[in-house]
Amino acid sequence: MKALILAGGSGTRLKPITHTIPKQLLPVANKPILFYVLDQIREAGITDIGIIISPETGPYIREAVGDGLRWDSRVTYVPQSDPLGLAHAVKTAQDFLADSPFLMFLGDNLIEGGVKSFVQEFDNQSPDALLLLKEVPDPRLFGVAELNGKGEVMHLVEKPKEPKTNLALVGVYLFAPEIHRAIAQIKPSWRGELEITDAIQKLLEMGKEVRSHILTGWWLDTGKKDDLLEANRVVLDGLLKRDVRGEVDSESKVVGRVEIREGAKVENSTVRGPVSIAEGCQVRNSFIGPFTSIGASTTVEDSSVGHSVILENSRIYRIERLEDSLIGTGVELRKADERFKAVKLFVGCDSSLEL
Ligand code: G1P
Repeated sequence: MKALILAGGSGTRLKPITHTIPKQLLPVANKPILFYVLDQIREAGITDIGIIISPETGPYIREAVGDGLRWDSRVTYVPQSDPLGLAHAVKTAQDFLADSPFLMFLGDNLIEGGVKSFVQEFDNQSPDALLLLKEVPDPRLFGVAELNGKGEVMHLVEKPKEPKTNLALVGVYLFAPEIHRAIAQIKPSWRGELEITDAIQKLLEMGKEVRSHILTGWWLDTGKKDDLLEANRVVLDGLLKRDVRGEVDSESKVVGRVEIREGAKVENSTVRGPVSIAEGCQVRNSFIGPFTSIGASTTVEDSSVGHSVILENSRIYRIERLEDSLIGTGVELRKADERFKAVKLFVGCDSSLEL
């Protein structure tokens, strides 16, 4: 069994941050999303891993993941020159996949509890495809499955205007090599992409066995700002343990499940978990509230921050209340003087500010 991680795409819905960081490397609880994906693949016993990369962000992914030794795995990079769809990505990876069955995992998706049990089920029952489904409030945004009374997949549609069910296709799939024959028979969709959903529908039409599982745990698709904040909240809430390694002075209070990594310093501040503070951060005269992650070497001074993700090397000074925010790397946010209402900003392209 091999694994194929899709880590291409341009992250349009997360601009401007994705101008400089691929969406798969954005951190959730101070760890890149892609690293959770790699952990889960490794945990399922798969060590031969292909990663689809795009020309724009591929170099960042290569630098972060390297040859896969950290996961005791072998990573092969497969460049995809244009984002022409998930089925196109599989086609591009045909040499790597050869005639092996494989787990396909979208590199910006996270699921609770990992994939080990699904991989085992696929191994035991050898269907042509095993899909994960999840009930969602707005299925129009996803591929949608229709099941019969016995729970068998009958029909699949990509982003239907009038969905027949609320069962979305989660970005994790298991395939037998038969999928390549199905992909060879499909045409690009209205959005110009070769859809994996259409290829699985083709498998059904070919009379192949397509099984499914409805997930009961969380599924996070981190393609947009609020999804990323939600992923950060869920992961901090569910997985974070108290682990204080940095320095906390006697004027400070650190309450609940808080991670303060080595080299970080908390002075005259209150930190109320769940919160993750990465290596080398400086937190001074501030309040850090629940569901916040602060990236390495960031400084927060005379401020209050809650339910936010702040990336590395940023500086936040005298901000009375920063919440529901996603702040990129190397950003400086500063209120110059209490007496003046004017704001002075130096902001990159496509930014969104709420003051
Ligand atoms: C893709 C798939 C869709 C699936 C979704 C899961 O959508 O085409 O079927 O439900 O991933 O995240 P996209 O992210 O390309 O809009």
